[in-house]
Amino acid sequence: MYNTRKITEELYWVGANDHRTTLFENIHPIPRGVSYNAYLLLDQQTALLDTVDWSACRQLLDNLEHQLGGRELDWVVLHHMEPDHAASLQVVLDKYPKAKVAASAQAFRFLEQFGFQTGEHERRELKEGDSLSLGRHTLTFYTAPMVHWPEVLVSYDETTGALFSADAFGTFGALDGKLFADEVDFDRDWLEDARRYYVNIVGKYGVQVQTLLKKAAGLDIKLICPLHGPVWREELSYFLGKYDLWSRWAPEEPGVLIAYASMYGNTEAAAQALATQLVEQGVRRVEVRDVSTTHVSHLMDLTMRLSHVVLAGVTYNGGVFPPMAAFLEDMKALGLKDRTFAILENGTWAPAAGKLMAAAVEGLAGCSVLAPSIALRSALTEGGQEQLHELAQGIAESIK
Ligand code: FEO
Repeated sequence: MYNTRKITEELYWVGANDHRTTLFENIHPIPRGVSYNAYLLLDQQTALLDTVDWSACRQLLDNLEHQLGGRELDWVVLHHMEPDHAASLQVVLDKYPKAKVAASAQAFRFLEQFGFQTGEHERRELKEGDSLSLGRHTLTFYTAPMVHWPEVLVSYDETTGALFSADAFGTFGALDGKLFADEVDFDRDWLEDARRYYVNIVGKYGVQVQTLLKKAAGLDIKLICPLHGPVWREELSYFLGKYDLWSRWAPEEPGVLIAYASMYGNTEAAAQALATQLVEQGVRRVEVRDVSTTHVSHLMDLTMRLSHVVLAGVTYNGGVFPPMAAFLEDMKALGLKDRTFAILENGTWAPAAGKLMAAAVEGLAGCSVLAPSIALRSALTEGGQEQLHELAQGIAESIK
C-alpha cells in the first residue's frame, strides 16, 4: 500500500521508513528508526530522485506505482550510490523498462562493483554544472565529494528552489507520517539525532561540507530535500547554521562532557564529584556518561556539541580501558578539532591511562589538556577532592 507526501505541485516524497534496522551501517544505534527519502518529480518527463534501501523496496514500488498513476518513469537520478539509497535501483529498472539512469561516472563504477545491474537502460553521466531538463523543472548538478562518499552529487531545481542534498542535512529518525521539519519540534526531538548523524556519518569531512555550503550560498534555496529525515521549507538558516558550526568543529555551546570508565564505581564517584564541583562553579551544562554503556556515537555527539571533555579512566592491561580507547580512536578517526580536555586517571598499581589518554588528545588538532591532571590511587580521598576542586575551577575559568 502506498504512503506518499506531496511537497509541491509536482514534487512528491515516495520514500520509506525503517523501524526494523537497529544499527545504521550496522554500527550506529537507531532506536527511533530511519527514513530513506526518495523523491518523484512529475513533469513532462518523470524522474525518481534516488531509491531506497533493499529492505524498503516494496514500499518504494507501491509509492511509485500510485504516484505515477500509469505514467512511464523516464529517469532515475542517483545522487548517492551507497546501498541505503541505490540498492533498489535494479528492481525499479526492471519494473520501468524505459527509464534512463543519471548519475556521476564514479557512481556508475560503484554500481558495477556492488553488482547492481542497469542492463540496457540508457545511462547519462553527470558532472559539475550539468543540467537535466524534465520540462518545467531543470535539475542542475553540483559535485559534493565525501559528503559522504566520493561520487556524491547534489542538485538544485530553480523552479521549486529545491536542493536535493543527498546525505547532507540528513538525520537519524523515522518520519512516521511527518515530512517537514516544521511539522515536528526539531530542536527538542530531532537535533540530537541530526548532530549524531552528522558527526558520525559526515563529521570527518568538514572541509568538504564547507565547500558544499559555499556552493549552496550561491543558490536561492527554498527547500532542502535530504536523503534521510525531515524536508526543510521554513527557517532553513537554522539548519544551515548548525551545519556551518559542525563542519568547522565549533562547539554549539560551552559545557563539559565527563566521560568515565569505571570498573568498581570509584572512578564513577570521582566523575560525579567533579560534576558537582563544576555545577557549583557555575558551569550550566555538565553531561556525565559511562563509556561502557554509552554507544560511542552518542559520546561523539556530545563531544561535538560541547566545548570541554573530561576523560576519567582506569588503567586496564597496562593501557587505556577498551571502551575509552574506542572513544579516543573515534575522535581521531573523525578528525575532532579544537576541544579542551581534562584528565582524571585511576589505577591501583602502575597507572598508565592518564599519560596515554593525554597523549591521544594532545595529538588532535587544536586540542589541549588543562592542568592539573588528577591521578587517583583506587579511590577518591580528601586530598583528591581538593584536586577536583582545583580542576573544576580551572575548567570553569576556561569556559568563561
Ligand atoms: Fe545515506 Fe551515505 O548514505
